[in-house]
Amino acid sequence: MIVPNDSKYYENFQGHDRFGVPEPIYRVTGGYGGEAFLIIGSEKTAIHDCGMACYSRETISNIHEILDPLGRTLDYIFMSHTHYDHIGALPYIIDEWPDITVCGAEKAAKVFSSEVAKRTMEELGDNAARLYDTGFGHVKTDPLRVDLIMKEGDEVDLGGVRVVFYEAKGHTDCSASYMLLPMKILFLSDSIGQYERPGKISIAALKSFRQSIDAAKKMKDLNAEILIGMHYGMIPPYYNDKYFEEFIEEANWEWSLIRRCIKKGMTDEQISDVHDIFYWDEEKEFIQPYEAHHMNTMIIIRNVRKEMEAENGKL
Ligand SMILES: [Fe+2]
Repeated sequence: MIVPNDSKYYENFQGHDRFGVPEPIYRVTGGYGGEAFLIIGSEKTAIHDCGMACYSRETISNIHEILDPLGRTLDYIFMSHTHYDHIGALPYIIDEWPDITVCGAEKAAKVFSSEVAKRTMEELGDNAARLYDTGFGHVKTDPLRVDLIMKEGDEVDLGGVRVVFYEAKGHTDCSASYMLLPMKILFLSDSIGQYERPGKISIAALKSFRQSIDAAKKMKDLNAEILIGMHYGMIPPYYNDKYFEEFIEEANWEWSLIRRCIKKGMTDEQISDVHDIFYWDEEKEFIQPYEAHHMNTMIIIRNVRKEMEAENGKL
């Protein structure tokens, strides 16, 4: 089993194993980037996300290592969203298990039909392959497909485990959270952030702070017993309620920082510099190149500016 060590950036809570997920979940993450988890039901199997293209070989081998001795195949993939670091390996997963049913939000299918989005996935995937020195060639984005578009409350029964879909917009419009029942294990999606270290949550509200906060409130009300962040892994269960409270507080703080800067008449670049004082440090380069961080910051600022212009238009 290939288990990446990315603890250089994500710091753990003392005595807590963030990757120590309970059965029927198995961590199959092949490398840096988003996490991938295998879920084994009595009838069907599934993965939640599949990580970056450049680690697809490792992820596929990790899945085989668990499924082969059981004589099982891979039946479903549930996508948290369509970013390259979470589903970049999907074309390789489809090649390996052609009959797999790909599940996600309606908007995910739209993203996959966009040539511009696919070129961006390839570009970012190639950059990551170089950054992590994987020796992986040019990443591909074909085949990419969504077979089962899920809507709020839709569920898939794996046998003894039901996977329930919840919309979780905010990070992207295609973001989704999935709850495993009856065990009440919740995959959060990137809209509800990540612990970077105890007490520090990164928000990444690329589309909308308001939607991210609403998604966090909705997830809190589901009263899950185990929360899994799509980069961080399992949140210490004694932090479950506190996590949502911290997330909402931090999201409001970042949102109001940007709004205050806009009100002062600052340019996007000036606001990005202020934002970096609080949200960038060199260690972060290891999990996200500065260019990617900066691009995301500019998207966030532009979206807050648009939202304020819309508010002013209404007055
Ligand atoms: Fe993302």
